[in-house]
Parts: sequence; C-alpha cells; structure tokens
Amino acid sequence: MSHLVGKDMRGGYGGADILNGCTIEVDKGQIAVVVGPNGAGKSTAMKALFGMLNLREGAVTLGGEDITALSPQDRVAKEMAFVPQTNNVFAGMTVEENLEMGAYLRHDDFTGTMEEIFDLFPILAEKRKQYAGELSGGQRQQVAVGRAMMMQPSVLMLDEPTAGVSPIVMDELFDRMIAIKRTGIAVLIVEQNARQALEIADIGYVLVSGENRYTDSGAALLADPEVRRAFLGG
Ligand SMILES: Nc1ncnc2c1ncn2[C@@H]1O[C@H](COP(=O)(O)OP(=O)(O)O)[C@@H](O)[C@H]1O
Ligand SMILES: [Mg+2]
Repeated sequence: MSHLVGKDMRGGYGGADILNGCTIEVDKGQIAVVVGPNGAGKSTAMKALFGMLNLREGAVTLGGEDITALSPQDRVAKEMAFVPQTNNVFAGMTVEENLEMGAYLRHDDFTGTMEEIFDLFPILAEKRKQYAGELSGGQRQQVAVGRAMMMQPSVLMLDEPTAGVSPIVMDELFDRMIAIKRTGIAVLIVEQNARQALEIADIGYVLVSGENRYTDSGAALLADPEVRRAFLGG
C-alpha cells in the first residue's frame, strides 16, 4: 500500500458529487501527477486528501492509518503539506517570514530546515528580506513550496505549481520536484501542463468527471495514443 491513499473517494460541496469514486495514491520517493480537463475535480480531490472536504464515501490513509476524519491541521501535524493553487504566500511578509510561518507547529530549532530550503531554492536566500508580493510568479511558487517544506513533510501536495510561469521556470520547478522526491518525500502534483508534468511522473492519473479514466506510469500515458489525442493535444 502506498504512503498516501485516497480510495474510492466520493463527495462534493453539498450538491451533486464532484468526486465519483476516484482513487489517488502516491508513495514515498515518488512523483504522482494528476491531469484532466478543467472542472474534472482535480483540486477537489486534493482538498479531499487534505481534509478540506468531507467525503461521503471512501477513505484516506497515510502510512496505513485511516485519517479520513482528521482536520487539515491534524494532517499537517502528521507530516502532510498542501500548496493550494492560489493565495499560497503572504504577499505582505518577507520571504523569511513566509518560511517562518510554515514552521508554526514546530517547537524545535528550524534554522537547519530553512538552510536546506535555501539550498534547494538559492534565489530565496538572496531575497530573504524582500516582500513575497514583490517577487516574480515563479519565485512566489518557490516561497509557497519552501513554506510547505518547513514542516519537513513526508507528503507534499501541489495544486498547479507551474500555473502562469514561463516554460523555463516551469522546467526549473519540475527539477526541484525531482530533487524533493529524491529525499524520500511523496510528491503529488495537479497540473495543467500535462505533457511536461507526465514526463517527471512515476505514476500519472487522468481524471475525468471525478473518476479515474487512465492510471499508468507517466511514460506509458505519454505513449498512449488515446491519452495523447484526448488529453495531451495530439
Ligand atoms: N467551493 C466550491 N463550491 C461548489 N462547487 C465547487 C467548488 N469548487 C469547485 N466546485 C465545482 O467542482 C467541480 C470540480 O472543480 P475542481 O475540483 O476545481 O476542478 P479542476 O481542479 O479539475 O479544474 C467544478 O464543477 C466546480 O465548479
Ligand atoms: Mg483545479
């Protein structure tokens, strides 16, 4: 069983179900990528995994433990980190203050962790005293990821981390995701840049109408003519 599993998830926002039995899992040292059309329920699935949405059916397990009933805050305490799609940095705080905010549940000395994040994202060390709101889109995403990493998570979940950045910055962000997974963290990414994201995916999910349409290695999905035609633009 994988480290994080959302199994047969069903539920939504009170009206009709948005998730219609989808299953998403990711293991430590793996990158899992979720792609699919707009409105497919990708963000909803992430929220369900993180406890921001009550499931009507299905379960979420972490390290084999059922965490379906836990609040997002309790999941953070269990080493889960989630970088939402929008509003994921404090614009009026410096880079350093943003990182400190990420460590709000820690009572130990986190300066070593901050140094590791500066090693991973050297530009953040350079700009540590600058307001996050003054940074470029790609740099803000680095702050958001860095903030999530301050809790030393075993699972890092990212909702469209490359939205609105240039292709070069996207490649850099994906390189950092690979570096993060190599430290043994489970990395789960929702992406619009499906083709590029599947290139770094150990496992890929194509979600449609809240259901799994295709599940395979990133390479296999990229090579599948039906997946290419319907979801990757040919
Ligand atoms: N907070 C919300 N309240 C009600 N409906 C929502 C909410 N967020 C998303 N939805 C609906 O859920 C469906 C799936 O949305 P979402 O999970 O954001 O899709 P995706 O991330 O794949 O684009 C859409 O029909 C959307 O309108
Ligand atoms: Mg979304």
